[in-house]
Amino acid sequence: MSLLQAATEVRLRAYAPYSRFKVGAAIRSVEGRVHVGCNVENVAYPEGTCAEAGAIAAMIAAGDSRIAEIAVIADSPEPVPCCGGCRQKIAEFADQGVLVTLHTTDGKAHSLTVAQLLPGVFSAAHMDRV
Ligand code: THU
Repeated sequence: MSLLQAATEVRLRAYAPYSRFKVGAAIRSVEGRVHVGCNVENVAYPEGTCAEAGAIAAMIAAGDSRIAEIAVIADSPEPVPCCGGCRQKIAEFADQGVLVTLHTTDGKAHSLTVAQLLPGVFSAAHMDRV
């Protein structure tokens, strides 16, 4: 199954009663498996989680380690930009050259690298502890 297909399917399962903005994300891990996530909102709004965060959690819970490619889809006029927090979360598990493709439900798509998504990322290399 393509990443777009996987993200499209999981998007329909998003829990977004407050924003009514459903988002789906699918990751192909370097191990070759596909992991999906959707946004899950909460009445205490800041407790909601993004689709990208859900897909990363699924990848780690399944025992895979790194992102080889990621697709995100939302019903928006232009491809949905990942929020700042998700950019940092993606950067934790993806090399700088990894492609992030942002899709709309009407077929537009925009691909960019992790480096383009979050220039000047704070990374483990900035600390001398790891
Ligand atoms: N959202 C995502 O899941 N991913 C994004 O890249 C952007 C925003 C969600 C969070 C919230 O549930 C809804 O979209 C509106 O912000």
